[in-house]
Amino acid sequence: MTTSWQGRKALITGGAGFLGATLAHRLASLGAEVTAVDSFLPEGGANPFNLDGLAAPFTLVKGDIGDAVAMTPLIERSDAIFNLAGRTGHMDSMSDPLGDLAANVTAQLGLLELVRTRRPTARIVYASTRQFYGVPDYLPVDEKHALRPPDVNGVHKLAAEQHHLIYAKVHGLAATALRLTNCYGPRMRVKDARQTFVGIWIRRILEDQPFEVWGGAQKRDFTYADDVADAFIAAIDAPACAGNAYNLGGAHHNGSGAVSLDTLAEALIAANGGQGGFKRMEFPADRKRIDIGDYEADDRAFRAATGWAPRVDLVEGLRRSIAYYRANLAHYL
Ligand SMILES: NC(=O)c1ccc[n+]([C@@H]2O[C@H](COP(=O)([O-])OP(=O)(O)OC[C@H]3O[C@@H](n4cnc5c(N)ncnc54)[C@H](O)[C@@H]3O)[C@@H](O)[C@H]2O)c1
Repeated sequence: MTTSWQGRKALITGGAGFLGATLAHRLASLGAEVTAVDSFLPEGGANPFNLDGLAAPFTLVKGDIGDAVAMTPLIERSDAIFNLAGRTGHMDSMSDPLGDLAANVTAQLGLLELVRTRRPTARIVYASTRQFYGVPDYLPVDEKHALRPPDVNGVHKLAAEQHHLIYAKVHGLAATALRLTNCYGPRMRVKDARQTFVGIWIRRILEDQPFEVWGGAQKRDFTYADDVADAFIAAIDAPACAGNAYNLGGAHHNGSGAVSLDTLAEALIAANGGQGGFKRMEFPADRKRIDIGDYEADDRAFRAATGWAPRVDLVEGLRRSIAYYRANLAHYL
């Protein structure tokens, strides 16, 4: 259930990115005073067009969350902090591990220190990931599953998540972490596969080109961006969530949360009115080494804590995504 956000001050880190901007639109529509801060990393999903249509009291600050001087006044006036800033590239984290450490751990700890010292009553939700479950022992994966990060990014995202939970436990911050799975929807990066392969699939389909399916049997759990945004808001609004990390999955498709990439490809073509095709490719060896195999989220704990449930079914979510990029593709190339 969504409470009133009229007059509440929300800070979104990574607010020009795919999920941060989706949240900005949602919170603004609920009446919140939204400030987005983003360093516009070229390899991520940051895009000024993502924030198109947001009017005052919305504010965009171009800056790095690791800059304590710039962040202090933003933190001091925030009631809720949606912490989505992060470097997301798995391959990039392997080639530049220290850069990933600085962005995903050091900057995050700096942010938490500011919240602790300047605004300890602010509620905070961190965008964590299912990535660090590694290759699952069982499906669906619940929060008790062993943690085995498969890459440097996974180690750092886990560290940042755990710092949020330590600050909740030891310092009493109202901090929650949501372990996101494969998210998709309007405002994701589509010019290449750096953010998500769903992005480049949609670009190809709109350009009447076949998209590439690497492997095809792997299963993933896909969450539509609006459902992710609603989950972040639900987490802020449910005080009982503080101090906990929760899985987040997507709407079930044909009775299952896990969808093979082959099924996703068929759903995408269906969402495009039956138009489009794909080529099957071998899974590249360098990606295979850090791949997590199949994944399906058990998100019953979060549903029980908040009443949240995903509302957008896979084909509908893909249909909305295609419609968005059909209208706006030029802003994303
Ligand atoms: N999209 C997914 O499927 C998914 C899955 C699991 C976890 N997540 C997490 O959700 C968050 C948002 O992901 P997204 O898909 O929207 O990615 P995104 O790249 O679109 O958004 C992240 C934003 O953070 C910004 N940023 C990075 N470091 C920053 C810093 N130090 N200071 C200020 N801004 C900074 C980037 O410029 C970018 O706009 C990330 O933390 C990511 O790890 C996303």
